[in-house]
Amino acid sequence: MTEFTYNNPVKLHVGPGKFGLLGGIAQQYGKKALLVVSDSTKPTGQLAKAQATLSAAGIEYVVYDKFMQNPLSTLVEEGAEQARQEKCDLVIGIGGGSAMDMTKGIAFCACNPGSIWDYVFGRKQAQYALPIILVPTTAGTGSEANRTAVFTNPETHDKKGLVNPLIYPVASIIDPELMLTLPKRVIAGPGADVLFHALESYISRNAHPFSEMLSLRAITLLTKNLPRVYADVTDLAAWEHVTFASTLAGMAIDCAGTTLPHALQHPMGGLLDVIHAEGIAAVYPAFMEYTWSAAPEKFAAIAAAMGVDTRNMTTEEAAYSSVQAVTSFLLSINMQPSLTELGVKEEHFDWIINNVQTTMKVVLENNPRVPDANTLRDILQRSL
Ligand SMILES: [Fe+2]
Repeated sequence: MTEFTYNNPVKLHVGPGKFGLLGGIAQQYGKKALLVVSDSTKPTGQLAKAQATLSAAGIEYVVYDKFMQNPLSTLVEEGAEQARQEKCDLVIGIGGGSAMDMTKGIAFCACNPGSIWDYVFGRKQAQYALPIILVPTTAGTGSEANRTAVFTNPETHDKKGLVNPLIYPVASIIDPELMLTLPKRVIAGPGADVLFHALESYISRNAHPFSEMLSLRAITLLTKNLPRVYADVTDLAAWEHVTFASTLAGMAIDCAGTTLPHALQHPMGGLLDVIHAEGIAAVYPAFMEYTWSAAPEKFAAIAAAMGVDTRNMTTEEAAYSSVQAVTSFLLSINMQPSLTELGVKEEHFDWIINNVQTTMKVVLENNPRVPDANTLRDILQRSL
């Protein structure tokens, strides 16, 4: 067995109705919280419920609700300033991936003044962050179970992750009941991202036996159950599997990282504000066509985990069948955009390729086959 080290310190509270435990959980970590929430928590009543459970537990709170789909580092630093002024000793995030990333960034910056980019690029080292509690209201990023948060620099358009053990949440609540009113687009996009995380962490050069187990289980649970919730948003039993898959995939990328599609999406998100899962979905068929032959056993296992009957296929046939399986799956949830539809044009290619080869080099090199600039251009061209 390959040697590896595994550590994930996040205390996970999983199950329908667990959101109601927020106040009691928060009591264990602080007295006054900055409550970072996405807009959707207001009409769904989730913010009101959080406020009620925190008040019942005697936790003071200040609401911070400024955020966007590709969170800007400037907004994170603003939130951190508010946390310092209000003397918050805890940061709670309720929302999708962006709200969770904001929460992590605020908890980190509140204890580490100056530019977050010094820490993202390793120019400064941090010792502390405020304790973080996360409550995902979409099933997608898996941010609730890992030490990554992604931000965009409004000056340089760099979009890059802070990866630091200090931003592991102390606790996360994974409550499938919070998903029961999601619109289809917010099921499909984040749901597809779960598949992307699971698939890319599985094929990553950094995968190890434990992360592979997490990834494969996430692929099976997600591909079986996401179409069910896409068809019927009230299917709680299917949501239990989808939310669990999201968390498993978030744990898997914590070990093994992502690969080529996520690397390519970052400059598209940073430059053109392309929605995370849509940018990735657009390059997926070209990425899989390019990559599968470099890791045929792994792509064959992905096909089998997705329910393809591979018993009478050669390894290569089974591996190649995963390309069609993923493409069909994305089509079934209406997630097969072209780069053109997302506003990416040929004139952006030079900037994207240069940016991905500098800021996302490590992620690019996780891919079983590492593309040069010409290959990247070809993948982008095929995805227009
Ligand atoms: Fe992602």
